[in-house]
Amino acid sequence: MDVSVTSPDIEKVFPDAEDFLPLNGTDYIELYVSNSKQAAHFYKTAFGFQSLAYAGLSTGSKDCESYVVQQGKIRLVLTSPLKPGTLIGKHIDDHGDGVKSVALWVDDAEKSFQETVKRGAIPYIEPVTQKDEFGETKKSGIKVFGDTTYLFIERKNYQGTFLPGFVKWDSNYNPSPLGLEYVDHMVCNVGWNEMNKWVEFYAKVMGFTQLVSFDDKDISTEYTALMSKVMSNGNGRIKFPVNEPAEGKKKSQVEEYLDFYHGPGIQHIAVATNNIIETVTALQSRGVEFLSVPASYYEDLLDRVGEIDEDLKPIKELGILVDRDDEGYLLQIFTKPIEPRPTLFFEIIQRKGAKSFGKGNFKALFEAIEREQELRGTL
Ligand SMILES: [Fe+2]
Repeated sequence: MDVSVTSPDIEKVFPDAEDFLPLNGTDYIELYVSNSKQAAHFYKTAFGFQSLAYAGLSTGSKDCESYVVQQGKIRLVLTSPLKPGTLIGKHIDDHGDGVKSVALWVDDAEKSFQETVKRGAIPYIEPVTQKDEFGETKKSGIKVFGDTTYLFIERKNYQGTFLPGFVKWDSNYNPSPLGLEYVDHMVCNVGWNEMNKWVEFYAKVMGFTQLVSFDDKDISTEYTALMSKVMSNGNGRIKFPVNEPAEGKKKSQVEEYLDFYHGPGIQHIAVATNNIIETVTALQSRGVEFLSVPASYYEDLLDRVGEIDEDLKPIKELGILVDRDDEGYLLQIFTKPIEPRPTLFFEIIQRKGAKSFGKGNFKALFEAIEREQELRGTL
């Protein structure tokens, strides 16, 4: 498994980003879940993640248990409390299973903390060094929207499996990986009229730049609307689109999320594959449920997006969406929510030159979500 510990030579692709941190990539995403053991089994079985590391009673963790799974460069940490009255338990009670922390890979966790806090970030974890026989890591963290946090992870002096405090998790159950490679972007849903506040936070506090902006005219159907701006760090490895609800005839999907998540949070994690047809075929066969689009979406698809390398037949059968921009095209599909509340879901994306986010699919996608909202009685 390729877990590099030295920072790569990273090219700045968005010169407008101040990028003072800088960020090397997503280190891991930590979800607080009600049953970490079963969640790990689900991500292995359904999504093809591999067992990586474990922390719990047997490793001296008295309050919580975590399983770490990995596929490509994507690492998920699944954490549950071991007793009542914990902040983890409260997070699960308030939000359901969801993303607590996005851990960002940096060269200097202390500097990342100082630079962001100096610019107005609220501290979450003061810089701390953790050691074991494989070396040392440094960690710090800041609070962002709602109860979500960003962590800064420095691991240049560490050769262990994951982080100090974790042991390697060897399992006899190892379903094959399904081609998920890296985190492409993570979307944040924030409250009414809060998008610009968070856009400013990313620019001022994190040194990000704005890539694109969509208003309620771009992202609306007959019934619902939302607004979105996409923020990126300088090398383009960390992209956070920020959504806020907009007025429509019926309840926006962002508003539904805010109701059920009980505040702002991460709405979806987009993961990249190099072969979306193979990946989605395998995910579906392992029980992952996706949003479907009507057959009419495909009738004039090639007129809209031009020639594509893939056969249209499997694209249509699987329900994959296609969109084109000036630089190429992309293929994408969205899972249904992966927990009881209609909150967090995954996007599977394959980029073939396109650097955008599927603007041409917004209407079809949001109508698909509305059909689900209708079934839930939350439209
Ligand atoms: Fe997305």
